[in-house]
Amino acid sequence: MELSRRQFAQAILGAAAGLACARKSVFPQIVHGAGATLRDLAGQKGITYGCATTKQALSTDQEFAALVSEQCALLVPETEMKWKYLEPQQNHFVFDNADWMFDFAKRHGMQLRGHVLVWQEALPSWMNSITAANAKAVMTNHIRKVMEHYRGKLHSWDVVNEAIAFRNQGGELRESPFLRLIGPDYVEIAFRTAAETDPNALLVYNENHLEYDNADDQFRRDTLLKQLKQWTSRKVPIGALGLQSHLRTGNVPFSASKLSDFLQRVSDLGLKLIVSELDVAERGSESSVSDRDRAIEKTLDQYLNTVLKNNAVIAVVTWGLSARYTWISNYAPRPDGQPVRPLPYDRDLHPTSAWTALASAFEHAPKR
Ligand code: G3I
Repeated sequence: MELSRRQFAQAILGAAAGLACARKSVFPQIVHGAGATLRDLAGQKGITYGCATTKQALSTDQEFAALVSEQCALLVPETEMKWKYLEPQQNHFVFDNADWMFDFAKRHGMQLRGHVLVWQEALPSWMNSITAANAKAVMTNHIRKVMEHYRGKLHSWDVVNEAIAFRNQGGELRESPFLRLIGPDYVEIAFRTAAETDPNALLVYNENHLEYDNADDQFRRDTLLKQLKQWTSRKVPIGALGLQSHLRTGNVPFSASKLSDFLQRVSDLGLKLIVSELDVAERGSESSVSDRDRAIEKTLDQYLNTVLKNNAVIAVVTWGLSARYTWISNYAPRPDGQPVRPLPYDRDLHPTSAWTALASAFEHAPKR
């Protein structure tokens, strides 16, 4: 007999849950356990909460898989839908691992979010030999074949990822084979191809480094807003902006009013918003776990309380669920070698201050 999502989670988590319940949060407005899940707390406000992770983690770690199915309503393949895995040889598509993620999500009552169709990273080596003569056909073929396979089945699709330039690079779009070989229209072509292939899909433009109050992020907010205005005025079928939200602790200038203003301008264009890759790297000097957790919680509090005020935010995705599996361990390890704590659960699957911050932000968010 197939277990329901909750039965599956409860069966596996049984003993661990008792332990988790006993651990009070730093600011315990909402205590982990007692039936409260991020999925339900977000859902009560009309927000879909989920996480990114891999088949490798879900298929080999039952306790982790149970936690994902308990806490999440949305699943994002962290690697399996990237170009080099889906089209490892030109026009030869391999969907096995991505399909496994789709089936896992379906079995446990979650939706799957597609990540990512057009990105200048995670490309297969054969892409090095594409030319201006075939680049557009190669890109549109990839979008069509992949979207046909999942037509009508996914929560949303990241169609283009990280296309906006950085301040010191010159130009408005980031260096990429698509920009070089197709030209700046590649973004528009990608979205139009995606909409033709799956007319009902929610098509997302996903971007990083938009969050902070410094000249670099301000340049990126201004440039992105200008591009979004141009795209929407030409009826490019973009349905939502994904804010990656890779945050950091430490002395990072943050302006709630500048970020809110930016989000308001984006949602005024008719776009939905998705917090698409949330996590927290530690750049502060705190060393005890409780001080570190306080810094992480403060970072998430100020960010989420600002962002979730905007009713266009429909989903929040953390880039991982547990510190057991996170890119932050490689990208921003702690100099003192202590395990990182960027996500709602630590390496032992005990809830962290990030869980509390998310729960509290959902609790305080206006209902959509
Ligand atoms: O495929 C090999 C595998 O065979 C091997 O066993 C393993 C050992 O380390 O490495 C595997 O590849 C790695 C892959 O993750 C799967 O774990 C790649 O080297 C590594 O570069 C890749 O990193 C991912 C990265 O995107 C590039 O695709 C990260 O896990 C993933 O978190 C990161 O996610 C990106 C988003 O897609 C876009 N926004 C930024 C975000 C963080 O960089």
